[in-house]
Amino acid sequence: MQPDTDPPIAEFRATTKMFGEVGAARDLNLSIRKGEFLSFLGPSGCGKTTALRMLAGFEAPTSGDVLIDGERVNDLPAHRRPVNMVFQHYALFPHLDVTDNISYGLRQRRPRPAAAEVAQAVEQALETVRLPGYGRRRIWEMSGGQQQRVALARAIINQPKILLLDEPMAALDRKLRRDMQIELQSLQRSLGITFILVTHDQEEALSMSDRICIMRAGRIVQIGSPRELYDRPNSRYVADFVGKSNFFAGTVSRVEATGTALAVAGGLRIIGTAAPGLAPGQTASASLRPEQISLAHGTTTADGTTCVPVRVVNRIFLGEHTEYLVQHDDLGAFLVLVPRQAEASEGSFEPGEPAFAIWRDGTALILPEDA
Ligand SMILES: Nc1ncnc2c1ncn2[C@@H]1O[C@H](COP(=O)(O)OP(=O)(O)OP(=O)(O)O)[C@@H](O)[C@H]1O
Ligand SMILES: [Mg+2]
Repeated sequence: MQPDTDPPIAEFRATTKMFGEVGAARDLNLSIRKGEFLSFLGPSGCGKTTALRMLAGFEAPTSGDVLIDGERVNDLPAHRRPVNMVFQHYALFPHLDVTDNISYGLRQRRPRPAAAEVAQAVEQALETVRLPGYGRRRIWEMSGGQQQRVALARAIINQPKILLLDEPMAALDRKLRRDMQIELQSLQRSLGITFILVTHDQEEALSMSDRICIMRAGRIVQIGSPRELYDRPNSRYVADFVGKSNFFAGTVSRVEATGTALAVAGGLRIIGTAAPGLAPGQTASASLRPEQISLAHGTTTADGTTCVPVRVVNRIFLGEHTEYLVQHDDLGAFLVLVPRQAEASEGSFEPGEPAFAIWRDGTALILPEDA
């Protein structure tokens, strides 16, 4: 990926798209780096496809600008942009075979490239997506995963500067999806093309992206690397969307350099790191990841920890970890992730048993409801 200081390959500048009264995309501001793998992540209807379509040239912004390679492209038609899109349902031509599907874009070019040149480009694209020798197959003779590769081959044959992928793996089963994710990633690294992926699958976004753009109701609410978003979400919405978290609602009672205290149910106080701008008296939520909490059979009074009595409700074996659902009289139900090693030393916990949930003060994030 290029350094931050280089000019971006694409940009949204205060870009808004209205469909009548609906603000499908609102005031988007984003610089996309050359060679980056960027994902748009958010729930259905939050504007991910709209953002992608404005880059592709299938929608024009209502206000603001879209730039590609430093050029304002608001009015540049799709076929003149150095961009290609893979659609959710591939949009392959069923009456054409694999070769003709892949070469379709090249054959539309004027002047038309020589047949030998097209054939060679198709061969190479098929190699890249690991389908050599499949050129004369019919589309309906291909599996879902193979069709997905044909759609990819069709999109990369023009050597676009940016490849736009709108939920390209939605139709695949879990195992195939995982394989394709790994392949897409290595394809991106080897081609050096900028990939922009739309997904509502957080695992997919976390595992593949250099940066993720979290969207909500047409707006970008946070942009960051997977780790930044996981460790430093700027709102409860983001913390909830990226990874699993427990939330305890309360009122900020103290804000100091050493920690922010949130007064929660039952007279309890959760000490954590506050998002900037939180002030005493404000309502907020403490976010504690399940892996930040441990379980013990006995209570502890160790300095700098909070220990609360709970009852084990449920246990799910996850291999290296066991996930416990526990219930506290005031805090309600929450999740605790216990590593196999810890369970080996502390012993396991049976549903129905009393136990103690323990966390280090300061590890919680105190987050506003909205960014
Ligand atoms: N052509 C259109 N005409 C009217 N409204 C539209 C149009 N396209 C999208 N919208 C609306 O804009 C909003 C954003 O739609 P968009 O397709 O960008 O969402 P999305 O994040 O891609 O959702 P999904 O995950 O369901 O694909 C939605 O409220 C949608 O109904
Ligand atoms: Mg969509």
